[in-house]
Amino acid sequence: MRVMILGSGGREHALAHKMADSSLVEELYALPGSAGMREICRGVEGDPEDIPAVLRAASERGIDLVVVGPEAPLAAGVVDALGELGIAAFGPTGEAARLESSKVYAKEAMVEAGVPTARFEVFDDPEAALAHVEERPLPMVIKADGLAAGKGVTVAATRAEARRAVSEAMVEGRFADAGSRVLIEDCLRGSEISVMAISDGESVLPLAPARDYKAAQDGDVGPNTGGMGCVSPVPDCDDALVEEVRRDILVPVIDLMRRRGHPFSGVLYAGLMLTAEGPMVLEFNCRFGDPETQVVLPRMTSDLVPLLIASAGMEGAESLSELDASWTPESAVCVVMASEGYPGSYERGVPITGLDKVEDGAWIFHAGTNFDGKRWVTDGGRVLGVTALGPDAGVARRRAYEIVEGISFAGAHYRRDIAR
Ligand code: AMP
Ligand code: GLY
Repeated sequence: MRVMILGSGGREHALAHKMADSSLVEELYALPGSAGMREICRGVEGDPEDIPAVLRAASERGIDLVVVGPEAPLAAGVVDALGELGIAAFGPTGEAARLESSKVYAKEAMVEAGVPTARFEVFDDPEAALAHVEERPLPMVIKADGLAAGKGVTVAATRAEARRAVSEAMVEGRFADAGSRVLIEDCLRGSEISVMAISDGESVLPLAPARDYKAAQDGDVGPNTGGMGCVSPVPDCDDALVEEVRRDILVPVIDLMRRRGHPFSGVLYAGLMLTAEGPMVLEFNCRFGDPETQVVLPRMTSDLVPLLIASAGMEGAESLSELDASWTPESAVCVVMASEGYPGSYERGVPITGLDKVEDGAWIFHAGTNFDGKRWVTDGGRVLGVTALGPDAGVARRRAYEIVEGISFAGAHYRRDIAR
């Protein structure tokens, strides 16, 4: 089978590594992929959001399955367009992807499906939103409705901060159209986990849970990022809790989407707060998490590809309801090395040293790198994800940090407290 991955980050590198192990895959391509992925797959030039270019690339190469990494091509309908050409694709249709591309759509779906989530109000008018800010208890959470590259959420500790977030989104147009509508919701307290599940629109197969470290600095301070590190498994999320999340959160939403005539297939990712009242949904994503994928896939001991083709409804695939995934009991820890300045502005093209081969049970996933012919250079905010397995999180973390300490680039920034 010929498979093409869309995207070029650490998540896609981890997907490529896992799929390269499958006996079902004969040829692996990535559009555009990264220089780091070239070892295991062929690069195809192009932009994953340019749907005609994706269709051309897939047809010309006789691709059997397209695996979509990031959310933007999903929201733009790449899966619908591939389907019209008869090419199987892993991921939801544009309409089903609204669970991620519109936070208002997602919250309304949660309410209709009876899924626990924070109390919220929706605003199209900045005056009304600002009036609401004066009335709600602190802290409160302000969210831009649309896709904002992980920057559209402010947890405001003061009214001034909440007002500022409303004005930036609704008046100053910080997120363009994505911020013309905002949600204001109650702040939940607890610890966060990510549970990703594969669905074919009916069955729901949860993957191993993970904990993402979203804040830029140690001790969970500083601005929110796409994720600075990850660990799996998570001590406060056992199998019984994953089953509760499946039954009370994932299945009701998958059932609702099917009833609405927009069955959801692909990865449904629930970002959850473990509150005193049980798990509550912070957000849904319609794709693999990053860096979650960089710890979850290294722990998967079964083949990923049968799950992807079952979800995509590829001809001849087994039914997802007949399939399962198995996991090593070992822990995986991923430490993200970022450019100086991330999640704000940063330089590209900074030389990287120390990207040597690593021993079995460890991986250096390239998130934002390039090879300029002679040397590796940085090419993104998140540059590398270094993952290691170990018999427990302590050993895995020590191994991951040992590798991180051997890699250097000017201004490299990473958290020192992942999985501590
Ligand atoms: P989201 O993109 O909606 O997951 O929000 C990004 C981050 O903001 C989450 O990972 C949480 O850390 C935080 N957050 C979002 N909503 C809430 C909430 N209702 N209460 C507390 N924290 C939240
Ligand atoms: N790590 C958070 C995300 O993938 O959205």
